[in-house]
Amino acid sequence: MNEVVRHLRAHRSIRKYQDSPLTDEQIHAAVVAGQAASTSSAVQAYTLMQITDPSKLERLVELTGGQSKVAHCGAFFVVCGDMRRHELLCQRQGQPFEVSLETFIVAVVDASLFAQNVCVAFESMGLGICYIGGLRNDLDEVDELLDLPTGVLPLYGLCVGEPAERPSARPRLPAELIWCRDHYPTDDEVLSQIDAYDTQYQSYMEARGAAAVSWSMRMVGQHAQARRVALAHYYRTKGVKLS
Ligand SMILES: Cc1cc2nc3c(=O)[nH]c(=O)nc-3n(C[C@H](O)[C@H](O)[C@H](O)COP(=O)(O)O)c2cc1C
Repeated sequence: MNEVVRHLRAHRSIRKYQDSPLTDEQIHAAVVAGQAASTSSAVQAYTLMQITDPSKLERLVELTGGQSKVAHCGAFFVVCGDMRRHELLCQRQGQPFEVSLETFIVAVVDASLFAQNVCVAFESMGLGICYIGGLRNDLDEVDELLDLPTGVLPLYGLCVGEPAERPSARPRLPAELIWCRDHYPTDDEVLSQIDAYDTQYQSYMEARGAAAVSWSMRMVGQHAQARRVALAHYYRTKGVKLS
């Protein structure tokens, strides 16, 4: 296994950080590494907004469902899909600016490829990271707090900092289930692989001192009802034509 692969496989989300702030040099190096990611037709439809204002960070703790790490890490960022630059260019040329579901997907994919490169770069510096999907609990409030113009779409937060914990790796589904050739596995194949994984996942949860829920039951609970249904309305208000 080469160094890069070993490094990628050593990832764990870090949820407790030391107080030391990141340096601008560290952040700049990670951003440039993020920008090296592939980008659909070179649109580079992303922005990484660092939040440093303590009152905004405290409000973001509340908005993310009480995730105190948001205000207690080396640096907190909001990862945004960003079509603002493209909008301004269209306006300047007197051309229409249309944001379809395709444009939205391009921005989400671009921003996420960028963000994951940023995270890998930070991790290579010995820092820990944790994505914060809780940012989408109330995007109207986040938008107002950050005063985001049209075209800038907050997607998730990102905590980065010196780790103050050493969690064990959370097991993943068998690679044999993720990698298929020419045809999708049968339902029986899928479910039997998941049953084996459930045992492993449950042991991991037990070892962490968490409720020993299986991955299956966690996923069932998570998908039993539609989540964050206000998102479509929010993104529409930002000019995205979702349908
Ligand atoms: C888009 C995204 C959003 C996430 N949101 C949160 C979050 O709000 N809070 C949190 O503690 N972890 C969050 N996570 C971390 C996941 O829970 C974590 O990646 C997953 O359980 C696998 O564990 P690992 O990263 O330690 O391998 C998020 C991860 C992703 C990719």
